[in-house]
Amino acid sequence: MDVRNEMLKLIRNRRDGFSLEQPFYVDPDFYKVDLDLIWYRDWLFVGHNCEINKPGSFLTVQVGDYPVVVVRGRDGEIRAFHNSCRHRGSRVCTADRGTTARLVCPYHQWTYDLDGKLIFASQMADDFRKEDFGLKPVACESVGGYIFICLAGEPADFAPFRAMMEPYFAPHSLVDAKIAHESTIIEKGNWKLVWENNRECYHCAGNHPELCETFPEAPTVTGVNGIEDDPELLEHWARCEADGLPSRFRIDDAGQYRATRAPLLPHAVSYTMTGKRAVQRNLSDRVSTDRIGTLMLYHYPTTWNHVLGDHAVTFRVLPVSATETAVTTKWLVHKDAVEGVDYDLQNLIHVWTLTNDEDRRIVEENAFGIKSPAYEPGPYSDLHEGGVMQFVDWYARFLEPRLVQGERPALRSVA
Ligand code: FES
Ligand SMILES: [Fe+2]
Repeated sequence: MDVRNEMLKLIRNRRDGFSLEQPFYVDPDFYKVDLDLIWYRDWLFVGHNCEINKPGSFLTVQVGDYPVVVVRGRDGEIRAFHNSCRHRGSRVCTADRGTTARLVCPYHQWTYDLDGKLIFASQMADDFRKEDFGLKPVACESVGGYIFICLAGEPADFAPFRAMMEPYFAPHSLVDAKIAHESTIIEKGNWKLVWENNRECYHCAGNHPELCETFPEAPTVTGVNGIEDDPELLEHWARCEADGLPSRFRIDDAGQYRATRAPLLPHAVSYTMTGKRAVQRNLSDRVSTDRIGTLMLYHYPTTWNHVLGDHAVTFRVLPVSATETAVTTKWLVHKDAVEGVDYDLQNLIHVWTLTNDEDRRIVEENAFGIKSPAYEPGPYSDLHEGGVMQFVDWYARFLEPRLVQGERPALRSVA
């Protein structure tokens, strides 16, 4: 049976409140459909504005088969291009990041300006038209200090996400922060397992001793159910909003993105072993209140985030294969915060470095067990895994109309 039909059948027959069938987590053909219908079609978080803060600064990213370069132009605009030379296709930018006056292909030195126009190609025919061979653009938007790209020819409307996300993030000045540290780990598990693990804290008490020093395990904090009934959350939102910080739980109709601000444990203001701040200088000059907890954002399929008073930790998920996922973590601090003076780097990154490694191990064990022929979908906990069910429901709902043969829904209506 055609793989799309097989996926459609399994999605339509899936048992509500249960994990997915094995092939969704292990099968290379299912993975290819995930790439085609989700990763190559939707908005993806790739990095932060502050990482490419000078004209000519660029970063590169690999999404499935697509290498992409994101570069800041001389006019200050951030643009994205397919990182594939219009001569014979070589990758133009080979570094993860850098700063350059022009984008020069290493193969035969075709040279592109920062806006993608081809400006030099030696010894081509007299009638060669450089204007026909600029780098192909990739849709690119930025909001609240986050850069998103979309590989689709007709990207979904970015405006609704921007409208929801910007008020929450603008006060935290991430657009003007600096990256104190970055790490990328490869987790040997399908990207959906990485997400499922992220969307619950049922596993926290048994696996995250460091994070549990400061982060509440309450399902209302991680999940999507019972939130409006949690008096602690209501009190936190009211206090933060009185200080001008949007905080209430908001989720879009399709369930693809959510923002909310949650309190940390009562003694804690930051993700450190003591709960004390890791950075003496506030992340944003616009936020002086100390007890703001954590502003959490997720946007499927690429990012979840924690923004605190003293720093932010952001996460980027990119699929590598059916059974491997790259998770990139960045710690952001005030642009003028000085390592060794305002913060000790090891203290700043300690909790999430260990937490990431613990999550990697969990995801890899989960993937290992799912490969067993004896695996069958198991029931999620209603109390603790509402967020996981929400993720899996989003996945199934997002995919189903795209899998229906001949049906090509307008992306604007569903993303
Ligand atoms: S492939 Fe880029 S210059 Fe030849
Ligand atoms: Fe975890």
